[in-house]
Amino acid sequence: MSNSFKICVFISGTGSNLDSIIKKQSLYNYEVVLVVSNKADAKGLNYAKDANIPVFTFQWDKNDKNLSLVSKQIKQSKCDLIVLAGFMRILPEGFIANFKNKIINIHPSLLPKYKGLHTHQQVIDNKDSSHGATVHFVNAELDGGKIISQAVINVENNDTSQSLAERLLFREHSLLPRTIALIGQNRVQWQANTLYFDHNKLTNPIIIND
Ligand code: GRF
Repeated sequence: MSNSFKICVFISGTGSNLDSIIKKQSLYNYEVVLVVSNKADAKGLNYAKDANIPVFTFQWDKNDKNLSLVSKQIKQSKCDLIVLAGFMRILPEGFIANFKNKIINIHPSLLPKYKGLHTHQQVIDNKDSSHGATVHFVNAELDGGKIISQAVINVENNDTSQSLAERLLFREHSLLPRTIALIGQNRVQWQANTLYFDHNKLTNPIIIND
């Protein structure tokens, strides 16, 4: 797959999104060339090992403003895009600046609603009728970068934060690989500081609901 779009995936835990990304590599013609984790015992690393994908783990150091060791690995991997898939640390600004418009994240809410943690519970508490997940580019503002795509689900009367999390995760497993593919195919691309989708300015999120 030497001509495929190369990605590096960051995880901290279970890694079900990583699993889905790996399984859809040939379908969407991208290649996971490196998996990075701040947790050496993250369960999700097994998906990478089973697929013979190189893994790099590191100890989080809040004083390392550029994540120098991680950056070195990423540069060596020659990846085109960094995908945060359940990575539970806030990346330092220096690192984000070094990979400007090259980092995306999946967040379990319909951004700009509910940045940060405990999104499912907030949906329940606020009696929202819909919920969703968002894939966005990463900038210095937490969960605040340009939104690319969203998956939307209805909230039912008997939903709990747990049932919402499970139902949404299932949708994330389609949303994230398909969004990676849109970027890999240059259907979503930056020109100067504007994001385009199929040559039109991206003004609303691309809805990916299957
Ligand atoms: C997902 O809900 C994702 O949106 C959030 O963290 C969770 C990761 O799940 N950022 P997994 O590790 O991919 O199973």
